[in-house]
Amino acid sequence: MPQPKIVVITGAASGIGAATARLFADQGHHLVLLDVAFESPRPASNDENDASALRLKVDVSEAQEVKTAIDHIITTLGQIDVLVNNAGVGTKEFVKTEHHDIDDWERVIAINQTSVFYCMKYVLQQMTRQGFGNIINVASLAGLKASGYNLAYSASKFAVVGMTKSAALEYGSQNIRINCVCPGYTESPLLESLFTMKPKLKKRLLQSTPMGRYGLPEEIAEAILWLASENSKYITGQSIVIDGGLSL
Ligand SMILES: NC(=O)c1ccc[n+]([C@@H]2O[C@H](COP(=O)([O-])OP(=O)(O)OC[C@H]3O[C@@H](n4cnc5c(N)ncnc54)[C@H](O)[C@@H]3O)[C@@H](O)[C@H]2O)c1
Repeated sequence: MPQPKIVVITGAASGIGAATARLFADQGHHLVLLDVAFESPRPASNDENDASALRLKVDVSEAQEVKTAIDHIITTLGQIDVLVNNAGVGTKEFVKTEHHDIDDWERVIAINQTSVFYCMKYVLQQMTRQGFGNIINVASLAGLKASGYNLAYSASKFAVVGMTKSAALEYGSQNIRINCVCPGYTESPLLESLFTMKPKLKKRLLQSTPMGRYGLPEEIAEAILWLASENSKYITGQSIVIDGGLSL
């Protein structure tokens, strides 16, 4: 078993974030789970196998809420070994750029992009003090390749890939690694909402995926766990694509 770490995961109530929390808990790590969907701070239940975890209701697109949560974690636990910036949303409708709703643009950029800056900013202040750390951002294949009718999501995920590289450059000499994962289509409530909007996509996207199936949240979690481990200790600033070959 690896040494237990203090691991903060955003968007941990559902999908990829929840699967990542389960996997880290199985490995004996101490978890702090942040999500706007949580009711209030309370210990996680035993049935999730992470009785030592804290759940905090935090909207990661609000700088003050992020700062308060990070301050609380440092005061109670003393350090943060790993941060997983996973919280994210899709656009409300699929339209060409000229028709993109401005409020929806601002919502998606705030949650998918600006939140990653806020979380990295406050956690890096602690990681530089403690002299080590590891950050994994959840971007998307849409952060590496064009995806039409989806401009805010595309912009936000390209930004996450860019922030990952730029911050990795800044902190490589301080024993802090920063990487991202770029999932293809992965089974989750977010993907289900896409198929509700565009039912025909469900079959079409499968046909474009060489492995002939969608990814599982657990498969993304495995890559995150590996990036957070000593097994990837010479890797920083990278974007790991997990997409069943879709990008090919
Ligand atoms: N599912 C896919 O196909 C896919 C593909 C590529 C990338 N991703 C990315 O993976 C990440 C997780 O997505 P998922 O598919 O598990 O979706 P999901 O909807 O199952 O989970 C997203 C979680 O983020 C939380 N969240 C949303 N806004 C928040 C906020 N302001 N503050 C705190 N928490 C907030 C939600 O409550 C939810 O629990 C997202 O960043 C998404 O863009 C998903």
